[in-house]
Amino acid sequence: MSDCQSRTIWWDDGLWLIDQTLLPEELLALEIKSIHQLVQAIKSLQVRGAPALGAAGAYGIALAAHLSRAAGAPEMMAELETAAEMIRSARPTAVNLSWGVDRVLRAAACGERREEIQERALSEAEEIAAEDIRINRLLGKFGARLLRDGDNVLTHCNAGRLACVGWGTALGVVRSAVAEGKRVHVYACETRPLHQGSRLTAWELTEDRIPMTLICEGMSGSLMRKGRIDKVVVGADRITKDAVFNKIGTYSHAVLARHHGIPFYVAAPLSTFDSHHEEADITIEERDPEEICILNGKRLAPEGIEAYNPAFDATPLELISGIITEKGVYKPPLMPLV
Ligand code: MRU
Repeated sequence: MSDCQSRTIWWDDGLWLIDQTLLPEELLALEIKSIHQLVQAIKSLQVRGAPALGAAGAYGIALAAHLSRAAGAPEMMAELETAAEMIRSARPTAVNLSWGVDRVLRAAACGERREEIQERALSEAEEIAAEDIRINRLLGKFGARLLRDGDNVLTHCNAGRLACVGWGTALGVVRSAVAEGKRVHVYACETRPLHQGSRLTAWELTEDRIPMTLICEGMSGSLMRKGRIDKVVVGADRITKDAVFNKIGTYSHAVLARHHGIPFYVAAPLSTFDSHHEEADITIEERDPEEICILNGKRLAPEGIEAYNPAFDATPLELISGIITEKGVYKPPLMPLV
């Protein structure tokens, strides 16, 4: 349980994660005891954010191997494939989820005996989790060069340590700049309807004593017009040949930033790139419309009205000033080969 101070997801005689639906009131670790429970945790956003989903997918296969009672390796691999399919389909937009699942499946497939498959699966999942923190720190250093002392940075949703195994992508850039001694102030958008900004980003920044101001996303244009925002830094769920998919609302900030001549950066590991697809190929998750109509059990909109609740949007690459990765900052249309 002590790992929950530093990691979002970890293995300690079983699979554990911070239940993000309880923050900011409670920081509690939840043990995941079955693949069904993991799928529910992903769907309900107890674990969320693209890199954290990559680790959840990876540990999910390690858990399936751990729970398996199959007699031989072929039966065991068939069970892992079934678990993989369940996990991959829990949320469709973030590419990291299937990336994590597939990487551990490949490692497990090299095992010939039950114990070997279990060991290989767990050790690959542990490597993915450790790698995530290393990558985010590297990415943070590259991104920190883009921030100046005294900058006001707008961010959307939560691309912090909670969205990863640790450190964070967009907030990792801010953390790295602050660690270098720069004064950075963050405007965190509340992020309707599930409030990842007000619940999670505000919590993380406050824990780290990084100055921040909470705003509603509809306020960003007015703040840009008043000259109160110097840069925008967000995370990503998937980066295709032509667009960045991220939390719904990101596209509006990008259009506004372009209009006001403000740099708009995306911070993401290479595992978020999907260079085989274009925007049109990607499914954007549509969530229960009731999430918009009800808040903490209280109805906000009349019963029976029509509501639309896509979880993500796509921002064309031409609106993006740079993509901050662990290999450096790419200026679209120049993209890394992955
Ligand atoms: O629905 P969520 O909370 O999983 O959405 C998360 C985001 O959109 C993040 O910005 C993205 O995953 C990048 S996290 C480093």
